Amino acid sequence: MNELQIAIDGPASAGKSTIAKILATDLKYVYVDTGAMYRAITFAVLTQNVNPKDEVAVSAMVPELEISFAPGNPVQKVFLNRQEITTEIRSVEVTANVSLISSYAVVRTAMTALQRKIAADGGVVMDGRDIGTTVLPAAQVKIFLIASVHERALRRYKENQAKGMPESLAEIEEAVQKRDHLDSTRQISPLKKAVDAIEVDTTGLSIPEVVHVIKEIIHQQQAVN
Ligand code: DC
Repeated sequence: MNELQIAIDGPASAGKSTIAKILATDLKYVYVDTGAMYRAITFAVLTQNVNPKDEVAVSAMVPELEISFAPGNPVQKVFLNRQEITTEIRSVEVTANVSLISSYAVVRTAMTALQRKIAADGGVVMDGRDIGTTVLPAAQVKIFLIASVHERALRRYKENQAKGMPESLAEIEEAVQKRDHLDSTRQISPLKKAVDAIEVDTTGLSIPEVVHVIKEIIHQQQAVN
């Protein structure tokens, strides 16, 4: 494999997707937003009026769901059973339920298999929570991106304001903290830094500064491989 697998994990709103997208574009790699996959399933659960707490019912839906991506600007397009749901998966309701849905074993097994298939030939930048630990444990580059809760909430708040979404900063900060807790305490492949991942704290750093730091790490890894 000549092209690398690059895993970027970290808590909600640490800047993973922004950074991963820039790296993928610069390296001419495929960008894979694994959070969008869990969001797509959550969207299906909510629109089909299945109770998100009903693990058996949610699990039964999974084989019927086909998730796919297509290039798009400024964001990658996301499809569920060929219907575009790019905007819908970012709703407050999906965000509030996605941690629960993503904790279910059947959901994780199916998504992990799909993610491994996409990454099999390398040339991918994959962002998520468990990419370096579970999905691609042999990835040549593993980054664990973190930032303070306040800064992450502030970034999400600014993004939401630009989209006309009304949540207050305090509400977002609470939701971010709640999601961090659920994602890092779930039983199956919780949010956790892989032992061989390199932690990058983006608090106070600009996007180009973070990209620069990660490119340095990639160059070092390429020199080793
Ligand atoms: O990155 P995001 O905020 O779009 O992710 C949404 C949720 O999906 C996140 O709260 C936890 C879950 N997730 C996961 O469990 N494993 C991943 N690899 C990616 C996301």
